[in-house]
Amino acid sequence: MRKFTNLLVTGGAGFIGSNFIRYVLNQTGFSGRIINLDKLTYAGNLENLADVQQAFPERYFLEHGDICDKAFVDRVWSEYKVDAVAHFAAESHVDRSILGPGEFIRTNVEGTFTLLEVARDHWKGREDVLFHHVSTDEVYGSLGKTGYFTEQTPYDPRSPYSASKAASDHLVNAWFHTYHLPVTKSNCSNNYGPFHFPEKLIPLMILKLQKGETLPVYGDGKNVRDWLFVDDHAEAIWTVMTRGRPGETYNVGGENEWENLKLVEVLCQTTALALGKDKDAFLPLIRFVPDRPGHDRRYAIDCSKIKKELGWKPRTEFAQGLEKTVAWYLAHSEWVKNVVSGAYKTWMDRNYASR
Ligand code: NAD
Ligand code: TYD
Repeated sequence: MRKFTNLLVTGGAGFIGSNFIRYVLNQTGFSGRIINLDKLTYAGNLENLADVQQAFPERYFLEHGDICDKAFVDRVWSEYKVDAVAHFAAESHVDRSILGPGEFIRTNVEGTFTLLEVARDHWKGREDVLFHHVSTDEVYGSLGKTGYFTEQTPYDPRSPYSASKAASDHLVNAWFHTYHLPVTKSNCSNNYGPFHFPEKLIPLMILKLQKGETLPVYGDGKNVRDWLFVDDHAEAIWTVMTRGRPGETYNVGGENEWENLKLVEVLCQTTALALGKDKDAFLPLIRFVPDRPGHDRRYAIDCSKIKKELGWKPRTEFAQGLEKTVAWYLAHSEWVKNVVSGAYKTWMDRNYASR
């Protein structure tokens, strides 16, 4: 089992990063320090980690800055003697990448390059260190009705987001093969759970249901995603970081495929029941809206490698995970109000006024 002392988490104030930090500090026996390097974009929110900040004042540190800023990353690395990285920081929303790809190339590609270069510089030849790159199944492209993405599936990204993540994946692999930088990589399916920014499907729908607004389903609603509860993803990343083989990629998924329309229907029913309403009360709010350009039809992960090699499996049953998520959003309207009233609102108002 690999051990670290000073773990640098990039993008730790975002959805998965904040759940990962909470998971590592509370549930793994890790006794070192976590340094959260985050630019605090519209998607990064320090409220996501208020409990962690309070519970671990001597083991959790925030460094506010940009992964593209080499001097800043270099300073953080030296100051904390970083010996492991969990790299989450990214622009992560496909719709935004369609409207403005520039920031995706900068953060996802240039930012990953910058981190790799600083790692190479500081870790020269060391083998007791690890750079873990968090990536997505979207790099593999789009499936038809059958089949699964394996670690051998050729890359075929279709959106600016997935193309930028694919580029960053290639850089990570290249730094392993060329410079022998100890790396691992995970490619995961769609996550859901608490602290998910309400621009992505599940939290957006819950928010709209709370407000009684219509629910925009893109195209015919038959696109398929494979959903995984965020804590299960955190566990998978930690498993790979501590026991995965250097240079290897591990696919992570929920074995839980849903057509968008079916999922939105279930969400309507889960939310209605949580609010004490008739189960089908919200179904009339569903509306089909124009499709996303280049909308990938189906994602589905074959995660047998991580299951067989490292013993990880998705634990959270979907109905329970959804109930937990809906209950969390209903109980955290202050959090929702705060994130929605920031930069996100301005962007939504400008780009989605008609939806
Ligand atoms: P998110 O958008 O919620 O959070 C991204 C975080 O990165 C934010 O805290 C933001 O402030 C920070 N950040 C953005 N640009 C930065 C920069 N230049 N420098 C420093 N920090 C910066 O994203 P998420 O959904 O938590 O995704 C985290 C990672 O997991 C991403 O790499 C994403 O590609 C990957 N991933 C996400 C999913 C998913 O379903 N959300 C699935 C698989 C993989
Ligand atoms: P999203 O949460 O944006 O994740 P991704 O595009 O990375 O898979 O979207 C999940 C699916 O839901 C995707 O097929 C697009 C669809 N979708 C809608 O139908 N309506 C919406 O308002 C959003 C945000 C997404």
